[in-house]
Amino acid sequence: MHKASKEIKAMLPEIDLIIEILDARIPFSSQNPMIAKLRGDKPCIKVLNKSDLADPDLTEQWQSYLEREQGVKTLAVMASQPEKIRQITALCHKMVTKRAGEQTHVLIMGIPNVGKSTLINVLAGRTIAKTGNEPAITKMLQRIDIGNGIILLDSPGMLWPNLENKNSGYRLAITGAIKDTALQHDDIAAFLAEFLLLLYPETVKTRFQLAQLPEREMELLELIGKQRGCLRAGGKIDHDKVAKIILSEFRTGTLGRMTMETPAMMEQELVELEVIRAEKAAKKLLRKQKHK
Ligand code: G4P
Repeated sequence: MHKASKEIKAMLPEIDLIIEILDARIPFSSQNPMIAKLRGDKPCIKVLNKSDLADPDLTEQWQSYLEREQGVKTLAVMASQPEKIRQITALCHKMVTKRAGEQTHVLIMGIPNVGKSTLINVLAGRTIAKTGNEPAITKMLQRIDIGNGIILLDSPGMLWPNLENKNSGYRLAITGAIKDTALQHDDIAAFLAEFLLLLYPETVKTRFQLAQLPEREMELLELIGKQRGCLRAGGKIDHDKVAKIILSEFRTGTLGRMTMETPAMMEQELVELEVIRAEKAAKKLLRKQKHK
């Protein structure tokens, strides 16, 4: 992370504008916390991709919040609407003034699986070979001339979000950004079930034809398991199977258009994170003093 941050800093003078692609279902957890610190006055567009899977009301809320609080421009897009994606080009020209013949250099970044390649291919009008998802930006930087005087500098998809926020880790696993996750399948499903009970209870009730909703996430998973016949020998619920069903239904949008975080939740979690950091720092100091 430190190395990546140094590399971005070194590249910045060459860059006119930054495009950060966010997953519209998790605009907080999919953003790169370094960008805010590093970009200074550099213009920035936050593209909320996969908005076909996200809650439209919350996408609007996030757009206003990001524009107001972070001074960036935002655009909500989806792969199925390429004409909306192509608006990015016009927005770049609106935000960066160049003399005739001069090119605009745009750094484009995003976590793995956010849809960066899909967007680049639409913007370039051709298929561009994917950059690897490796943590060495400049080495792997790909320059793509998308016409209209714009050069995209494509950085490899990287997972930078502060995974010290456990909730972000879960949300990244649920949306599919973290694939080979250290987290257990059923643990992720339990987090998803808790979120569903909290934010989308009626949708869950209808989708799984439940007369009443339970209070706890584990009970919800049991009910879904029974409903879908996920049983093992002896009539016990096959938790792995239930987890796969609920995760797949969320990821494909079968459960409905859902967003896992709101600006208010983000602010709350950032405060909690500060408390955790302060506690960690205090413990570290105590250890140091003890060993003196
Ligand atoms: P990346 O370069 O950021 O890693 O992402 P990439 O474009 O490869 O997209 C990752 C997955 O997300 C792909 O699905 C892609 O089709 C899907 N995707 C991209 N944009 C959108 C969007 O706006 N909405 C939805 N619903 N999906 C989107 P995949 O299953 O991994 O591959 P494929 O089956 O599409 O080939």
